Amino acid sequence: MAAKETEGPLAGRTVIVTGGATGIGAAIVTAVADAGAAVVIDYVGSSTAADAAVATLTAAGRRALAVQADVSRPDDLTRLVAAAVAEFGRLDVMVNNAGIETRHTLLETTEKDYDAVLGVNLKGAFFGMQAAARQFVAQGGGGVVVNISSVHEDWPMPGNTAYCVSKGGMRMLTRTAGVELGAHGIRVVGVAPGAVDTPINASTEADPAKMRALDAAIPLGHVAEPGEIGAVVAFLASDAARYVTATTVVVDGGLMQSSLGL
Ligand code: BGC
Repeated sequence: MAAKETEGPLAGRTVIVTGGATGIGAAIVTAVADAGAAVVIDYVGSSTAADAAVATLTAAGRRALAVQADVSRPDDLTRLVAAAVAEFGRLDVMVNNAGIETRHTLLETTEKDYDAVLGVNLKGAFFGMQAAARQFVAQGGGGVVVNISSVHEDWPMPGNTAYCVSKGGMRMLTRTAGVELGAHGIRVVGVAPGAVDTPINASTEADPAKMRALDAAIPLGHVAEPGEIGAVVAFLASDAARYVTATTVVVDGGLMQSSLGL
Protein backbone atom coordinates (compact mmCIF):
# COMPACT_ATOMS: atom_id res chain seq x y z
CA MET A 1 0.00 0.00 0.00
CA ALA A 2 1.33 3.48 -0.85
CA ALA A 3 2.43 5.37 2.25
CA LYS A 4 -0.35 7.85 2.95
CA GLU A 5 1.93 10.12 4.92
CA THR A 6 3.07 11.61 1.61
CA GLU A 7 -0.26 13.48 1.44
CA GLY A 8 -1.88 16.02 3.75
CA PRO A 9 -0.90 19.20 5.61
CA LEU A 10 1.54 17.28 7.86
CA ALA A 11 3.05 15.12 5.10
CA GLY A 12 6.72 14.40 5.72
CA ARG A 13 6.51 15.65 9.32
CA THR A 14 7.28 13.64 12.44
CA VAL A 15 5.05 14.25 15.46
CA ILE A 16 5.52 12.98 19.03
CA VAL A 17 2.42 12.80 21.21
CA THR A 18 3.10 12.19 24.91
CA GLY A 19 0.38 10.19 26.59
CA GLY A 20 -0.65 9.28 23.06
CA ALA A 21 -2.24 5.91 23.76
CA THR A 22 -5.41 7.08 25.51
CA GLY A 23 -7.87 9.95 25.87
CA ILE A 24 -7.16 13.24 24.10
CA GLY A 25 -3.68 11.95 23.17
CA ALA A 26 -5.10 9.03 21.17
CA ALA A 27 -7.38 11.44 19.27
CA ILE A 28 -4.41 13.72 18.52
CA VAL A 29 -2.49 10.72 17.18
CA THR A 30 -5.37 9.90 14.83
CA ALA A 31 -5.76 13.51 13.69
CA VAL A 32 -2.09 14.11 12.91
CA ALA A 33 -1.73 10.72 11.21
CA ASP A 34 -4.80 11.54 9.06
CA ALA A 35 -3.04 14.81 8.18
CA GLY A 36 -0.11 12.77 6.84
CA ALA A 37 2.39 12.76 9.72
CA ALA A 38 4.56 9.92 10.96
CA VAL A 39 3.66 9.65 14.61
CA VAL A 40 5.45 8.57 17.78
CA ILE A 41 3.10 7.42 20.52
CA ASP A 42 4.59 7.85 23.97
CA TYR A 43 3.09 5.74 26.74
CA VAL A 44 3.86 4.86 30.34
CA GLY A 45 2.87 1.57 31.95
CA SER A 46 1.19 -1.04 29.76
CA SER A 47 2.08 -1.01 26.05
CA THR A 48 -1.19 -2.66 24.97
CA ALA A 49 -3.08 0.44 23.76
CA ALA A 50 -0.03 2.01 22.12
CA ASP A 51 0.86 -1.22 20.30
CA ALA A 52 -2.74 -1.57 19.10
CA ALA A 53 -2.70 2.01 17.77
CA VAL A 54 0.58 1.39 15.93
CA ALA A 55 -0.87 -1.79 14.37
CA THR A 56 -4.02 0.07 13.24
CA LEU A 57 -2.08 3.00 11.78
CA THR A 58 0.47 0.75 10.06
CA ALA A 59 -2.32 -1.34 8.51
CA ALA A 60 -3.78 1.92 7.15
CA GLY A 61 -0.45 2.76 5.46
CA ARG A 62 0.75 5.23 8.09
CA ARG A 63 4.10 5.31 9.84
CA ALA A 64 3.89 4.95 13.63
CA LEU A 65 6.09 3.95 16.53
CA ALA A 66 5.33 3.30 20.23
CA VAL A 67 7.93 4.37 22.79
CA GLN A 68 7.77 3.92 26.56
CA ALA A 69 8.88 7.08 28.35
CA ASP A 70 7.88 8.60 31.70
CA VAL A 71 7.51 12.32 30.94
CA SER A 72 8.29 13.27 34.53
CA ARG A 73 11.87 12.08 33.87
CA PRO A 74 13.88 14.42 31.62
CA ASP A 75 16.23 11.57 30.60
CA ASP A 76 13.23 9.62 29.31
CA LEU A 77 12.15 12.64 27.23
CA THR A 78 15.62 12.94 25.70
CA ARG A 79 15.45 9.23 24.82
CA LEU A 80 11.94 9.72 23.36
CA VAL A 81 13.11 12.46 21.02
CA ALA A 82 16.18 10.40 20.03
CA ALA A 83 13.94 7.40 19.25
CA ALA A 84 11.74 9.55 16.99
CA VAL A 85 14.76 10.89 15.11
CA ALA A 86 16.34 7.41 14.83
CA GLU A 87 13.14 6.00 13.33
CA PHE A 88 11.90 8.85 11.12
CA GLY A 89 15.03 10.98 10.54
CA ARG A 90 13.82 14.22 12.13
CA LEU A 91 11.31 15.76 14.54
CA ASP A 92 8.86 18.49 13.52
CA VAL A 93 6.16 18.66 16.19
CA MET A 94 6.14 17.87 19.92
CA VAL A 95 2.73 17.55 21.56
CA ASN A 96 3.08 17.67 25.36
CA ASN A 97 -0.23 16.02 26.13
CA ALA A 98 0.37 13.63 29.03
CA GLY A 99 -1.56 14.80 32.07
CA ILE A 100 -2.97 13.57 35.36
CA GLU A 101 -5.12 14.97 38.17
CA THR A 102 -5.77 13.81 41.73
CA ARG A 103 -8.79 16.00 42.62
CA HIS A 104 -7.76 17.09 46.09
CA THR A 105 -8.30 20.40 47.83
CA LEU A 106 -5.33 22.41 49.05
CA LEU A 107 -6.00 21.16 52.59
CA GLU A 108 -5.97 17.50 51.48
CA THR A 109 -3.10 17.54 48.99
CA THR A 110 -0.08 15.47 50.01
CA GLU A 111 3.47 16.12 48.86
CA LYS A 112 3.17 12.89 46.86
CA ASP A 113 0.04 14.16 45.02
CA TYR A 114 1.70 17.48 44.33
CA ASP A 115 4.92 15.93 42.99
CA ALA A 116 3.02 13.45 40.82
CA VAL A 117 0.75 16.09 39.23
CA LEU A 118 3.41 18.77 38.78
CA GLY A 119 5.91 16.13 37.61
CA VAL A 120 3.78 14.87 34.74
CA ASN A 121 1.88 18.00 33.75
CA LEU A 122 4.40 20.83 34.16
CA LYS A 123 7.87 19.31 34.47
CA GLY A 124 6.94 16.90 31.66
CA ALA A 125 5.89 19.75 29.36
CA PHE A 126 8.93 21.86 30.31
CA PHE A 127 11.53 19.20 29.61
CA GLY A 128 9.58 17.72 26.71
CA MET A 129 9.68 21.14 25.08
CA GLN A 130 13.36 21.54 25.91
CA ALA A 131 14.29 18.15 24.40
CA ALA A 132 12.25 18.88 21.25
CA ALA A 133 13.52 22.45 20.89
CA ARG A 134 17.14 21.32 21.19
CA GLN A 135 16.48 18.88 18.33
CA PHE A 136 14.71 21.58 16.25
CA VAL A 137 17.66 23.95 16.69
CA ALA A 138 20.21 21.21 15.88
CA GLN A 139 18.45 20.09 12.70
CA GLY A 140 17.40 23.61 11.60
CA GLY A 141 14.14 24.69 9.97
CA GLY A 142 12.08 25.45 13.05
CA GLY A 143 9.39 23.30 14.63
CA VAL A 144 6.19 23.36 16.64
CA VAL A 145 5.42 22.57 20.28
CA VAL A 146 1.79 22.15 21.31
CA ASN A 147 1.12 22.09 25.05
CA ILE A 148 -2.21 20.56 26.02
CA SER A 149 -3.25 22.46 29.11
CA SER A 150 -6.84 23.11 30.22
CA VAL A 151 -9.40 25.84 30.79
CA HIS A 152 -7.98 25.49 34.31
CA GLU A 153 -4.80 27.26 33.25
CA ASP A 154 -6.92 30.36 33.97
CA TRP A 155 -10.06 29.20 35.69
CA PRO A 156 -9.99 27.92 39.30
CA MET A 157 -11.30 24.38 39.88
CA PRO A 158 -11.79 24.03 43.65
CA GLY A 159 -10.84 20.52 44.73
CA ASN A 160 -8.24 20.11 41.97
CA THR A 161 -5.64 22.54 43.25
CA ALA A 162 -2.33 20.95 42.21
CA TYR A 163 -3.79 20.39 38.74
CA CYS A 164 -4.74 24.06 38.39
CA VAL A 165 -1.27 25.08 39.56
CA SER A 166 0.31 22.81 36.93
CA LYS A 167 -1.90 24.17 34.16
CA GLY A 168 -1.27 27.77 35.20
CA GLY A 169 2.44 26.97 34.93
CA MET A 170 1.90 25.55 31.45
CA ARG A 171 0.20 28.80 30.48
CA MET A 172 3.33 30.81 31.26
CA LEU A 173 5.61 28.11 29.86
CA THR A 174 3.82 28.45 26.51
CA ARG A 175 4.07 32.22 26.54
CA THR A 176 7.67 32.55 27.73
CA ALA A 177 9.10 29.73 25.62
CA GLY A 178 7.17 31.01 22.61
CA VAL A 179 8.88 34.38 22.97
CA GLU A 180 12.32 32.81 23.56
CA LEU A 181 12.09 30.38 20.65
CA GLY A 182 10.51 32.61 18.00
CA ALA A 183 13.92 33.60 16.66
CA HIS A 184 14.59 29.92 15.89
CA GLY A 185 11.38 29.65 13.86
CA ILE A 186 9.86 27.51 16.61
CA ARG A 187 6.21 28.08 17.48
CA VAL A 188 4.82 27.22 20.92
CA VAL A 189 1.05 26.99 21.23
CA GLY A 190 -1.18 25.99 24.12
CA VAL A 191 -4.49 24.21 23.66
CA ALA A 192 -6.94 24.50 26.55
CA PRO A 193 -9.70 21.90 26.39
CA GLY A 194 -12.76 22.13 28.60
CA ALA A 195 -14.57 18.97 29.64
CA VAL A 196 -13.75 16.05 27.34
CA ASP A 197 -15.03 12.48 27.29
CA THR A 198 -11.83 10.73 28.46
CA PRO A 199 -10.74 8.53 31.38
CA ILE A 200 -9.67 11.63 33.39
CA ASN A 201 -13.38 12.51 33.73
CA ALA A 202 -14.55 9.01 34.69
CA SER A 203 -15.71 10.05 38.18
CA THR A 204 -17.85 12.91 36.79
CA GLU A 205 -19.25 10.73 34.03
CA ALA A 206 -20.24 8.07 36.58
CA ASP A 207 -22.49 10.62 38.34
CA PRO A 208 -25.57 11.52 36.24
CA ALA A 209 -26.34 14.67 38.29
CA LYS A 210 -22.80 16.00 37.82
CA MET A 211 -22.97 15.20 34.11
CA ARG A 212 -26.27 17.07 33.72
CA ALA A 213 -24.78 20.08 35.51
CA LEU A 214 -21.66 19.93 33.33
CA ASP A 215 -23.58 19.64 30.04
CA ALA A 216 -25.86 22.52 31.14
CA ALA A 217 -22.82 24.69 31.86
CA ILE A 218 -21.47 24.25 28.33
CA PRO A 219 -22.97 26.71 25.82
CA LEU A 220 -22.54 24.19 22.98
CA GLY A 221 -24.43 21.72 25.17
CA HIS A 222 -22.12 18.72 25.30
CA VAL A 223 -18.87 17.43 26.73
CA ALA A 224 -16.31 17.32 23.89
CA GLU A 225 -15.41 14.21 21.96
CA PRO A 226 -11.60 13.79 22.02
CA GLY A 227 -11.53 14.22 18.23
CA GLU A 228 -12.86 17.77 18.64
CA ILE A 229 -9.58 18.58 20.39
CA GLY A 230 -7.42 16.48 18.06
CA ALA A 231 -8.62 18.38 14.98
CA VAL A 232 -7.53 21.72 16.48
CA VAL A 233 -4.11 20.33 17.42
CA ALA A 234 -3.54 19.03 13.87
CA PHE A 235 -4.43 22.48 12.51
CA LEU A 236 -2.13 24.29 14.96
CA ALA A 237 0.72 21.91 14.09
CA SER A 238 0.35 22.69 10.39
CA ASP A 239 1.66 25.60 8.34
CA ALA A 240 -1.89 26.98 8.12
CA ALA A 241 -1.28 28.19 11.71
CA ARG A 242 2.20 29.53 10.95
CA TYR A 243 1.51 32.94 12.59
CA VAL A 244 0.20 31.49 15.87
CA THR A 245 2.62 31.34 18.80
CA ALA A 246 3.09 32.15 22.50
CA THR A 247 -0.64 31.91 23.21
CA THR A 248 -3.38 29.46 24.13
CA VAL A 249 -6.31 28.39 21.98
CA VAL A 250 -9.31 27.56 24.14
CA VAL A 251 -11.40 24.62 22.87
CA ASP A 252 -14.17 24.34 25.45
CA GLY A 253 -17.57 24.79 23.77
CA GLY A 254 -17.79 28.14 25.59
CA LEU A 255 -17.54 26.56 29.08
CA MET A 256 -15.12 29.09 30.53
CA GLN A 257 -17.30 32.05 29.50
CA SER A 258 -20.50 30.53 30.82
CA SER A 259 -22.16 32.38 33.70
CA LEU A 260 -23.61 29.07 34.91
CA GLY A 261 -20.34 27.71 36.30
CA LEU A 262 -19.86 24.04 37.15
C1 BGC B 1 -10.25 18.55 33.94
C2 BGC B 1 -11.59 17.90 34.16
C3 BGC B 1 -12.68 18.96 34.18
C4 BGC B 1 -12.60 19.85 32.97
C5 BGC B 1 -13.65 20.98 32.95
C6 BGC B 1 -10.31 19.45 32.74
O1 BGC B 1 -9.08 20.08 32.59
O2 BGC B 1 -9.29 17.52 33.71
O3 BGC B 1 -11.55 17.18 35.35
O4 BGC B 1 -13.96 18.35 34.19
O5 BGC B 1 -11.33 20.42 32.91
O6 BGC B 1 -13.73 21.65 34.16
